[in-house]
Amino acid sequence: KKEIYIIAIESSCDETSVAVIKNGNDILSNIVASQINSHKRFGGVVPEVASRHHVEQIIQCMSLAIDEANITVSDLSAVAVTYGPGLVGSLLIGITAAKSFAWANDLPLIPVNHMAGHIYAARFVEEMTFPLMALLVSGGHTELVYMTEHGEFEVIGETRDDAAGEAYDKVGRVLGLTYPSGKEIDELAHKGQDNYHFPRGMIKEDNFDFSFSGLKSSVINLVHNAKQRDEVLCDVDLAASFQKSVIDVLVDKTIRACKVYDVKQLIVAGGVAANKGLRDTLKIELAKELPNVTLVVPPISLCGDNAAMIGAAGFVEYQKQHTSDWHLNAKPSLTL
Ligand code: KG4
Ligand code: ZN
Repeated sequence: KKEIYIIAIESSCDETSVAVIKNGNDILSNIVASQINSHKRFGGVVPEVASRHHVEQIIQCMSLAIDEANITVSDLSAVAVTYGPGLVGSLLIGITAAKSFAWANDLPLIPVNHMAGHIYAARFVEEMTFPLMALLVSGGHTELVYMTEHGEFEVIGETRDDAAGEAYDKVGRVLGLTYPSGKEIDELAHKGQDNYHFPRGMIKEDNFDFSFSGLKSSVINLVHNAKQRDEVLCDVDLAASFQKSVIDVLVDKTIRACKVYDVKQLIVAGGVAANKGLRDTLKIELAKELPNVTLVVPPISLCGDNAAMIGAAGFVEYQKQHTSDWHLNAKPSLTL
C-alpha cells in the first residue's frame, strides 16, 4: 500500500503555516510562523500587515516543512490549502502558493475549510468515532457541529454575536492585557474566585446558540464604572468570574447537545480549546453526565491555527477526490 504524503498550507489569519502529513494522522513537520509581535501593538490583527508577512514567510515555510519531513517533492500526493473562512488577503497568499506548487509539480489541489481543519486536529489524538459533536471555539467562531461521517458537518448552534475568543480578547483589553489575551486570562482566572457573578448568556434557552456580548459588556461596564469612582477591582477575580461565565455556558450547552444527538465522541477544537478551565471542566462534567462519551481535545500546540490540522482534513477530502481546478478562490465567509 502506497503511503499518502500531503503538504498543507494555512494562512487564513496571522499564522503562516506549512505541514507535511503522512496518511492523514502522522505529522512529519508542522512549521508555524507567528506574526503576533507585529499585531500586538494594534490590539488585533491588521489585515494588510498580515498579508505582507505571509508573502515574506510562505516560501521559507514550505521549504522548511519539506526538509523537516525528510521527504522529496516527488513523494507528495497532493497539496491541501485553507480557502476560507479568514482574511481575504491572507487566504490569497496561501492559495496562490498552493496553486503554483501544485501546478509546477503536477499535484492535485485540495481546498480545505479552516473550521473543518480545527475539528480534524483531533485526529492526531484519536480516531474519530461517529456520530460525534464538535465544540468549535476560536477567535472568530463559536459553534456546535454535529458529524455523522467524515467530511459531513451540520452546525446545530452558533454564537449570535461575539465569538468566545473575541470576548476573551476584548475583556483582556479593558484589563490592560496584551492581545491575544485568552491565555493570560486563563492563568489569572486560576488565581481568583467567581465573586462578580456575571450573566450566563442564553443558558436557559432551549437551543444550542450562544451569546457573549452581554457578558463582555457587563465586564467592561463594571471596570469603567469602578474607574470613575476610583474603586479598585480585583483583577484575578474579574478574570475568574468572566471565565466561569464563559465555561458554564459552553459546558452546559455542549453536554445538552451531546445528550440530544446521542453522540459517541466529543471533540473540542479551536484556539479557545487551549483553555485549561474549559478542558478540565468538560472532562469532569462529561464523565459525570455522559460517561460513555469519549472526550478528544487536541494538544495545546494544535489548538491554535496550524497547517497540520489542514493536512488531516485535506486527507479526507483527498480520499473523497474533492479536488479543485486552478480557479480556486478565497472564500472569506465560508461556512461548514
Ligand atoms: O483558532 P485561533 O488560533 O484563531 C482563530 O481562528 O480565531 O484562536 C485564537 C483565539 C484568540 O481569541 C485567543 O485569545 C484564544 O483563541 N485563546 C484562548 C486561550 N488560548 C488562546 N482563549 C482562552 N483561553 C486560552 N488558554
Ligand atoms: Zn482558527
